[in-house]
Amino acid sequence: VENSIRFPQNFLWGGAIAANQAEGAYLEDGKGLSTADVLPCGADRLERSMDTSAMNALMNRIEGYYPSHEAIDFYHRYKEDVALFAQMGFKCFRTSVAWSRIFPNGDEEMPNENGLKFYDDLFDELLKYDIQPVITISHYEMPLGLVKKYGGWRDRKVVYFFERYAKSLFERYKDKVKYWMTFNEINITAHVPFIGAGIILKEDDSKYQVIYQAIHHQFVGSALAVKACHEIISDAKIGCMLAGGPNYPYTCNPEDVFEAMQKDRISLFFGDVQSRGYYPNYIKRFFRENNVNIEMEDGDEEILKQNTVDYVAFSYYMSHAVSTSPEKAGEVKRNIFGGVKNPYLKASDWGWQIDPKGLRYILNQFYDRYQKPLFIVENGLGAVDIVEEGEVINDDYRIDYLRDHLVQVAEAIEDGVDLIGYTTWGPIDLVSVSTGEMKKRYGFIYVDKDNEGRGTLRRVKKKSFNWYKQVIETNGELL
Ligand code: BG6
Repeated sequence: VENSIRFPQNFLWGGAIAANQAEGAYLEDGKGLSTADVLPCGADRLERSMDTSAMNALMNRIEGYYPSHEAIDFYHRYKEDVALFAQMGFKCFRTSVAWSRIFPNGDEEMPNENGLKFYDDLFDELLKYDIQPVITISHYEMPLGLVKKYGGWRDRKVVYFFERYAKSLFERYKDKVKYWMTFNEINITAHVPFIGAGIILKEDDSKYQVIYQAIHHQFVGSALAVKACHEIISDAKIGCMLAGGPNYPYTCNPEDVFEAMQKDRISLFFGDVQSRGYYPNYIKRFFRENNVNIEMEDGDEEILKQNTVDYVAFSYYMSHAVSTSPEKAGEVKRNIFGGVKNPYLKASDWGWQIDPKGLRYILNQFYDRYQKPLFIVENGLGAVDIVEEGEVINDDYRIDYLRDHLVQVAEAIEDGVDLIGYTTWGPIDLVSVSTGEMKKRYGFIYVDKDNEGRGTLRRVKKKSFNWYKQVIETNGELL
């Protein structure tokens, strides 16, 4: 369809992946084990990651099939994949650095040269096609060594290991990478602390105390990374990254309306601290009522205040409906946030409620609140794809999903939102975070691999490949 609204010149069109969902090569060239490498497959993998005894067993015994160990073998095939991204005309490509390639156990003094070398080669390959690397420093993984020895982000020392790691990236890639973000979907740490912060709760832990203290450590680590990035790379931009998705009141009952605002704040809290530089008052009430006492060191408040992010990046897949009525509670269980069914929306095969207008809604909400450039760094549809005869994959549902969202992105631009770019999630099929499956596909490029790890790993262009190419070619005039 034709779109009459202009996208900005130099708009960063592209795609986004994460190291542990794509690279594989999980022990190659000196890489250490990461938290992602011990998560098994299965619809309940995130719930299991919160089960103390299951996790303690998993940490020490690697056996059977783990999807991150080979993933889509991007580590060895990135040249072929980057060439395909270039064919689509990507202006940018978002990926993450696997922390345990650079610091295999997390607490070494010196980085692993072979790990650094891999990303040098990858970034050079991207730059060869004028594709800007957009780099997440920690995307749902950390060295397992830091979990075993320090309990993950519950220990303040991890702040400094992270700072050292981030600095070594800035030093090494200062001429190659100008767009950075610190933690992927940092607000998810509040819901799934193992993937967010390497935390396995112990039986006598006070849950909120442990989690919010770890989050404080991540805030300080993130602010120190912002500081170092600005000092080392004067023309770089560094952002925070939130899992976006508005909470709508199910009815106009003021109880529902207020509850929806409170639910929004559980996530906005993270953006508020990272973008405005201080803890908002509403979270202090939450802390008081839940016996949370954040231990701060001298200078923490200044660090947070003085090193706010340059832009706010976020993912967007769905919206949530919130009800205070007991009959409605817990109707939609199939995502991290819970919530109830929205009768006006359809859901994906995985129960995620599809809501293009919700994207315009949060673009406006975030821009009103932060007044900083925004960057949509994930959006897409996880779906089952069928390979028809002649290697044809007609993924019209994916085109429809992305088009409907981009129409709303254009509207938000017309609303006056300052938007840096848009990267679809998983431009090439990869391992799912919530289930570990391959069957939940997001790509314009199909990867021949199934949930059990079988397949040739060959790459096949889907119908959406040419559609996205045209979107980029026309800078969004043809959607
Ligand atoms: C985001 C993550 O939560 O959603 C990605 O940043 C993830 O890493 C994506 O893959 C989609 O979720 P899933 O569970 O379908 O892989």
